[in-house]
Amino acid sequence: MKSILLLHGPNLNLLGTREPDIYGALTLAEIDARIQAAGAQVEIEVRCLQSNHEGALIDALHEARNWASGVIFNPGGYTHTSVALRDAIAAIDIPVVEVHLSNVYAREEFRHKSLISPVCKGKISGFGWHSYWLGLMALKEILGD
Ligand code: DQA
Repeated sequence: MKSILLLHGPNLNLLGTREPDIYGALTLAEIDARIQAAGAQVEIEVRCLQSNHEGALIDALHEARNWASGVIFNPGGYTHTSVALRDAIAAIDIPVVEVHLSNVYAREEFRHKSLISPVCKGKISGFGWHSYWLGLMALKEILGD
């Protein structure tokens, strides 16, 4: 069975109460449970981690090299600012799929720029919690059988 990391960045621990009109009503734990269940159906183990700290996210990406076949990553606000996270993704040789709950291109201009996208396999944005599900399906296809 393959294993993947589902990694969430800053403020995503507040899902459910954080701007629900933008991010939806599900909590992070509910999203994680849905993606783990969907993973189990396609024989992929999904390990979940959230951090508000850039360094902890970098550590998680480095450690993922040792056990994960790929990563689904919502970097939150760091998407638009973090050279260090971009470098961490570029440094690891496993595929990373960037996901966002909201359609970042339909929002403020500062959200249109992602420092992460060029070093990711691809990007999914705007489908609420289904963005994570689509990210899982994308990784499944990338990883093959
Ligand atoms: C987000 C979009 C980011 O611009 C924002 O800073 C977030 C969440 C999303 O999932 O839509 O924290 O990554």
